[in-house]
Order: sequence, then C-alpha cells, then structure tokens
Amino acid sequence: MCGIVGSVSTKTNVIPILLDGLKTLEYRGYDSAGLAYIKDGNLIINKVKGRVKDLENHISKESNSNIGIAHTRWATHGKVNETNAHPHNVGKITIVHNGIIENFSKLKHKLEEKGYEFKSESDTEIAAGLLDYYYKKYENIDKAIQKFMKKVDGSYAICMLINDNPNTIYVIKKDSPLIIGKGNNENYIASDVPAILKYTKNYYILEDYEYGKITNNNITIYDKEGNILKKELKEYQGSDLTSDKGIYEHYMLKEIIEQQTTIRKTVNPYINNIKDLLKLPDLTKYERIDIIACGTAMHAGLTAKYLFEQYSNTKCEVFLASEYRYQNNFLNNNVLSIFISQSGETADTLAALKKVKEEKYDTLGIVNVKESSIARALDKVLYTEAGTEIAVASTKAYTSQVALLSVLALSLAYRKKLIKEEKINKILEEFRSITQILTPILEDTITYENIAKEIYEKSDIFYIGRTIDYALAMEGSLKLKEISYIHSEAYAAGELKHGTISLITKDTPVFASATNKYINAKTISNLKEVIARGAKCYLITDEDIKEDNIKVIKIKKVSMFIKPLLTIIPYQLIAYYTAKLKGCDIDKPRNLAKSVTVE
Ligand code: AGP
Repeated sequence: MCGIVGSVSTKTNVIPILLDGLKTLEYRGYDSAGLAYIKDGNLIINKVKGRVKDLENHISKESNSNIGIAHTRWATHGKVNETNAHPHNVGKITIVHNGIIENFSKLKHKLEEKGYEFKSESDTEIAAGLLDYYYKKYENIDKAIQKFMKKVDGSYAICMLINDNPNTIYVIKKDSPLIIGKGNNENYIASDVPAILKYTKNYYILEDYEYGKITNNNITIYDKEGNILKKELKEYQGSDLTSDKGIYEHYMLKEIIEQQTTIRKTVNPYINNIKDLLKLPDLTKYERIDIIACGTAMHAGLTAKYLFEQYSNTKCEVFLASEYRYQNNFLNNNVLSIFISQSGETADTLAALKKVKEEKYDTLGIVNVKESSIARALDKVLYTEAGTEIAVASTKAYTSQVALLSVLALSLAYRKKLIKEEKINKILEEFRSITQILTPILEDTITYENIAKEIYEKSDIFYIGRTIDYALAMEGSLKLKEISYIHSEAYAAGELKHGTISLITKDTPVFASATNKYINAKTISNLKEVIARGAKCYLITDEDIKEDNIKVIKIKKVSMFIKPLLTIIPYQLIAYYTAKLKGCDIDKPRNLAKSVTVE
C-alpha cells in the first residue's frame, strides 16, 4: 500500500535517497508516485501515474536538494491519476500521507467556505488544506498540528514540508506506521524500516498522536500537548534485509521454494525434544481461543482451529479482523485472542487488537515483521522466521504461521496430556524432517505445469474440502484468484449441493484435498457428484485413491499437525504456473497491496 520516504541532509542530494526508498517499498503495491523538495527556497513537486521508474525518468537529471519527501500511492479516495497522486500542496503546506481522513468531506466543505479551492479528489489534499488553515491562523506550527490532530478522524502518517522553513521536515502520526531514522548529519523518515536501511539501522518509532520536527542534525518528538518526549532509539534487529530473486523468475516461486527452510526455522526452538514444547506459552487456563486475522493469515487460523479443537480439546473461533472489530465478541478472562499477521501492519488486525487491549483481555500474536505495529501492541508475540516476503501472494509466511500454530496446539495437547508422548515424539521427528518431506512435493513441477495448462483458460474454478481440508481449499482458491485473476470459490465439500453445484458444467475444474481419514470417503462422494455433472477433478491426498476422472496428487502420509504444510504446496504451485501461463504480473497482482494499512 502507500509508502512514505523523507530525508534531510547537510549537503547530500537527497533525491536519490528518496527514489531508492520508494523502490524498496514498491513490492507493497501502488499505482502512482511523487516527490517534493525545496531548492533555493523554491518548492518543486514531481508526480506520475505509474512506477517509481517513471518518476525517476520524469525528474530532471540536474535536480538536487538537501530536503525532500516522497510517496507511492495506492488509491483510496479518487482515481489513479497524477492529480490525485501525492505530494499535495495547499498554501504553505506540502504533504505526503498514508491512511484515510474519514471526515474529509465535512472538513472540505468548511475549508471551501473559508475560500479554499481543491484540485484533486484526494482526502490528503484536504489534510494539507486544514494544516495550512491552522498554520496561518495560529502562526505557530505546533498549535496547528495539535489542532489538526483534534479535528481529524481516521488514520494518518504524514510527512510535511513548509515553505517558510526549508530546513525541517514535520511528521504527524495516528494509526498508520511512521518511523524516523537517525543518521550522521542526515536524518530520514519512512513508513517502513526497509526503506531507509541502506542508510541507517537506528530509528525512532512514532506512536499515535505524536508529532516530530526533523532537521539534518536534530530530531525532536512531541506528544499531542506539545511536550518534548524522550524516545528510545531502536536498532533494527531483523535479518534478510536484501532480498533478490536469485535464480528465480518471480519472488513468489522463490518464496514457495524457501518453505523448505522457513518452516523449520520457525519451529526450530520447539521441536528438538518434547520438553521444548514447554517453551511455548501455556494456554491451559483458557477455555476458548479466538484467532483474528485477514486473508491468508486468517486461513492459517482456520487450519489451527481444527488442531486446537480436535487434539487440544479447546474451543477455537476464527474471525476476520474487519468484522471482529465491529461486533460483540463475548470476551472474558478465559479467552485468549491470537492475532496473526505477516506484515504486522494490517489496519483491521491492528484495530481488532486495540479493541481487545482496551478491554484488558489477554493477547498473543504470530507476526513475521519484527517491531511492527502489531508486534509492539501485543502482550506476547511469537515470531515466524519466514524472512522478508516480497510477493503479494503470501506463501512462506502462511506455512510458517500454520507451523507455529501447529506446535502451539501440540504443546497445549501435551500439557493437557491428551496425546501420548510417543506420538508427540513422532510428530516432532516429522517436524525435524520437514525439509526432506517437502522436497519431492516442491519438485513435482511437471504435474503442476500440466494442470495449469488444463485450467488457465477457464473462467470459474472450485475448491472443496472438509474440516482442515476446507481451510486449505480457501487458501488454494485465494492463491489462484489473486494472481491469475480466474474467478474461483472455496466451498465446504458437503455444502456444494445446497446451491452452488448449479454452477458445475462440463469441464468445470474442481480441486479438492482429502487428508482427514475419518471423512475422506465423504469428500470423494462429493467429487463424484460434481463428476456426474461434468466436472474435471483434481485431488490432493495421502491415501491410495484411484477413481475414474479424478487426477490424484499424492502426498506423504504424515501427522495431521504437519499435513497442511504439505497439502498447500500443490495449490500454491498450480496457482503460480496458471498465472504464469496467463502472463500475469505474479509478484504484483493488479489492485493488490502487500501490506493493507487502510480499513
Ligand atoms: C494473501 O496472499 C494476501 N496477500 C493477503 O490475504 C494477506 O494475507 C492479508 O492481507 C493479511 O496480511 P498480513 O498477514 O500482513 O496481516
């Protein structure tokens, strides 16, 4: 989604720093880019619809400045065009903004009554107008910012230049991440740490309702009353900062292959012997576990639901964060709320977490990006070790989440003495061998490419399954539609005949997995029902199933705690090869963003 970079320096030309930072954030998804800088007292703004490369080509080669702000926009308010792109200038104020100004329409009318005229459809231009209005009214930037924070509803990470003060960048933050990097006679601003890591590892994190003033050699951060805050200077601890595609054509393929090591790395502290499971948080006191997340992370939660309920005998509910935040969740002290997020910045998940925190109930998180907003807000966080995930379609982060939730459920079952130690030791041995177990599935490229050839021209594809296989069907379907743009739906296998089966016609592809021996026969019956109506079926299973008209992809027989990690890989690779055949922009699918920082 939107990205922010800013820099102010003693003598370095910051324009390459800004462009470089924007390029680092490109994978997050955007549709236009722009930057503003001050040169010899003059404000210069460049914006383009399109890529950062287009912006780079658009900027004059002679451009040189010691202070500037830059932005990649993922459209929310207003079309994708140059006018709506950031930065927005109104009067003396120029800003780039991540987030949404919810009361922008009301503010716009008020400002128009006072004589302001706006050129774009963007809520950000209104924010710039409001800041300009208060700045002129109070002739004091602190008062203007404090008043702005009182009047604006919504989320904002704002980076601002003021014509009157060409040596300072101002920042304001609420509900959208923003950090300030500390360099040597050079300071930086970014929405995400990676954007400035080439220049510094030291940074301050801005919290909600804080604002700051940054010059080349000074960083001052204030609370909403204007008191100067003493903030902790952080040092980035993450690894895998530089991520290139290596030998792979796409990040997505690279990341699928990396699952051989990322799963193992994630669970490594908990699997060497049975006692290692006790390093995981003790969940025995909870009567119910709620899992809250979005998209693929929510699907990881759905696989865990099965494990918690079936093997740890603990009720588990899974919620979409965007719904959870607006409903009655019947929380009490016997409920643990688990939040899952790769990026740690998803706006809905963060808001849902804040809701639980406000009511002072226990939270635990599974997060990939260290020091992210969600990680910082949690009572306790378990990190997945997936490394940087660049492709918009989540693969290695998903399997790391599933693996971590699996060992958590196993640990709970162990503490509750619900599974024999001998069986647990066998499961741990499988976890330790995960790399070898996954290799043949990852290497079966021919099978996936052939299936892709059969389906890539279809317009509708169905995914079905029961219990844990239904959770996997949902993830398989999401992977296919997000990168190949083929319409697909996931259904509980038994539900199809209650309406949706009317959509099955000759050669409609139907994918299923049957990995739960207690109900596999039922899933096969459902496949037969669709075959009878002409469907072409593909089945992932660990059983010896031979049926006419069903193409079987066989996986190794392993414990249910491991199985979802195997089952999902054919789904990921079939989606990948299908999108490739269609010539889609696999790593950056249309309309999507890697980190969804708006509601
Ligand atoms: C999955 O491929 C998507 N990129 C998306 O559903 C993603 O999982 C969702 O937006 C949640 O993101 P998060 O894990 O960063 O919170």
